[in-house]
Amino acid sequence: MTARRSLLLGCGSYLPDRVLSNDELAERVDTSDEWIVQRTGIRQRHIAAEDELTSDLALAASRSALAAAGLGVDEVDLIVVATTTPDDTFPSTATRVQAGLGMRRGAAFDVQAVCAGFIYAVSVADSLIRTGQFECAIVIGAETFTRILDWQDRSTCVLFGDGAGAIVLRGDSSPDSSGYGVLSTHLHSDGREREILYVDGGPSRSGTSGHVRMNGREVYRHAVSKLGRVIDEALTANRLSVDDVDWLVPHQANRRIIDSMAARMKLPPEKVVCTIERHANTSAASVPLALAEAVMDGRVKPGHLVLFEAIGGGLVWGAGLVRIGVPRHAQGSHCA
Ligand code: UT7
Repeated sequence: MTARRSLLLGCGSYLPDRVLSNDELAERVDTSDEWIVQRTGIRQRHIAAEDELTSDLALAASRSALAAAGLGVDEVDLIVVATTTPDDTFPSTATRVQAGLGMRRGAAFDVQAVCAGFIYAVSVADSLIRTGQFECAIVIGAETFTRILDWQDRSTCVLFGDGAGAIVLRGDSSPDSSGYGVLSTHLHSDGREREILYVDGGPSRSGTSGHVRMNGREVYRHAVSKLGRVIDEALTANRLSVDDVDWLVPHQANRRIIDSMAARMKLPPEKVVCTIERHANTSAASVPLALAEAVMDGRVKPGHLVLFEAIGGGLVWGAGLVRIGVPRHAQGSHCA
């Protein structure tokens, strides 16, 4: 019997219909399409409708991930939602998703690690599956991040968007599952760096949800060094090299950060999944949205090794290595 691991059975996503272009934004604040594209790579972002909540986005992404995995909700016993923009202070957005799916058992809770939230959520779900406490998890990154933007602050309001991505993980202990699923996750934080990226509100501090404040240059500097180091850590922990990586699915915060990670790794651009142009930075949703897109359009295939990384306010950052799909014995339910 090999060690129990979490296989990735399917991915799903959801993007709100409304698209806001850079030119439209330039009518509201002192910015330009040229500045935004040159400095970030962003051309547009999706914006949730007024009556669309984070749980609605998360629910839609969960349904699409379950369909891709070929599983019914009865097989799921854990829901973990990574979000910075929950529907309510409580109950958790995950319990709203649980109710929406009609799931009457198991457990559901939120994880808060801002833009690194999805990697944190995968780590928590994977650990709970490995220890045998849960069998099958939906792990979701979902945000209505545009609700906490200061639309007068051009240094932040041009950067973010709304969306949700989800994956389905299931426990497996058979010998040929070795090398598949979540290989490892690597989490870090440094609370001393709060001031460079935070929200100036919260139930305890002010009773309001507040707005995003960021020293972009400082976050950029930390991102390049910390993400580089955590990528090395993930590869070393698995005795893998860059050549083993089929895809880098990075956090979509800035095209220049993504390019510098790829260059540092000496990874050709064709092996990097980049959605920032169309999605902007969707915080916890950015990695699973990018992964779902690349799985659905056939770039990421079963058997491929995928490296994730992300950094966000806190600071918090992390990386993960996942081999997509399932070994032959388990091919009743396959990765979409
Ligand atoms: O997801 C969480 C992680 N977040 C990140 O990783 C974000 C990391 N940081 C970044 O992506 C970049 O720092 C930004 C895209 C936020 C900013 O790019 P930058 O090249 O670092 O620009 P900057 O902040 O140094 O600003 C350069 C200039 C400033 O003008 P002056 O002082 O040189 O005259 C800004 O006022 O650009 C100005 N500026 C803008 N101009 C037009 C800032 N925002 C805008 C804007 N449109 N939207």
